[in-house]
Amino acid sequence: MKNILVIGGAGFIGSHTCLVLLEKGYKVFVFDSFVNSSTNALKRVLEVSKLKNKKKDPFLKIYNGDLLNKKLLQNTFNDIYKKHKFLDGVIHFGGLKSVAESIYSPISYWRTNVLGTINLLEIMSRYESKHLVFSSSATIYGSSKNSLLKEDSELKPINPYGNTKLTVETLLDDIFKSGRKEWHLASLRYFNPIGAHFSGLIGECPIGIPNNIFPLITNTALGLQKELKVFGNDWPTKDGTTIRDYIHVMDLATIHTRVLEHLISNKPNYLKLNVGTGKGTSVLELIKIFERVNKVKVPYVYVNRRIGDKCSLVADNSLLISKLKIVPKSSIEDMCRDGWKWKKLNPNGY
Ligand code: WQD
Repeated sequence: MKNILVIGGAGFIGSHTCLVLLEKGYKVFVFDSFVNSSTNALKRVLEVSKLKNKKKDPFLKIYNGDLLNKKLLQNTFNDIYKKHKFLDGVIHFGGLKSVAESIYSPISYWRTNVLGTINLLEIMSRYESKHLVFSSSATIYGSSKNSLLKEDSELKPINPYGNTKLTVETLLDDIFKSGRKEWHLASLRYFNPIGAHFSGLIGECPIGIPNNIFPLITNTALGLQKELKVFGNDWPTKDGTTIRDYIHVMDLATIHTRVLEHLISNKPNYLKLNVGTGKGTSVLELIKIFERVNKVKVPYVYVNRRIGDKCSLVADNSLLISKLKIVPKSSIEDMCRDGWKWKKLNPNGY
């Protein structure tokens, strides 16, 4: 079976992607610094994957390391190649991911997200491992006003997090064009991943106080915080609150696996793909759907807009659908139901 290295495989999207890979029979190697994640996430991933593949043991090997430690990264590749001969592909989730945090700590975001990726690409090149799926972001786009964002929409990040993602995409452009065009690359521009595996055994487990809305909604619903702060009700939208394209984390995980399989079975290429549902949901709508589906209350209060926020970010996902024949299938209701099940079963995370 094929060998896949998942950088940041213990994180929210990484752990769900490792689960999909294991259920499909891949050998999974995780390289994670555990700065923003827990080894318990991977223990749960193994537990859930065994539920599905009762007949044979899933293969998951963990390497604790930071992309900024190039020697450790080199040793990891060395170990994999010595014992398992080859790496068929790399999925790179490794990076810092909070828009709000990036505004106050730009240097650590540039160091981790850009220099860390440069280290990875150098080592991959050294081992002739040239299949990479990169976790990019919709925050690289300029404001969409109220139209759907296409892959050729204006690229104009307004925060350091988005700047680092666009910088890596540009670096991948340069690598693809250099030399003999041997790289098979994909940058997946996520919109807003939320929810959890339907088992409730793996889910989003931010370290410390979360910045993103869904864990804050579940914390409020569970009474861990008094109310949700809604950042502005004076936006030019139907109900005055911002609009996002929320996608189920399991749909996102499946898409990563399918994109990597596409890269492996096709000639060298560099794909840049929007990964969203194409449907916009306002903050107020998300709150109301969450309350209705889960029969809970989410008290909220309007406060000022948050620096770095955009009014509306909704994907035109037609390229993903036409190229990969993949249509994200889960509804907002599914995301709210699955995310709440995870939170109720794991009020303090892993
Ligand atoms: C969503 C909406 C807020 C918190 C996301 C991911 C980030 C990165 C970029 C992938 C916004 C509003 C939020 C709160 C609120 N992912 N909100 N009250 O900013 O779209 O960033 O995409 O690359 O990891 O989080 O997501 O969840 O922070 O905010 O009203 O307490 O909810 O204004 O419009 P965002 P978010």
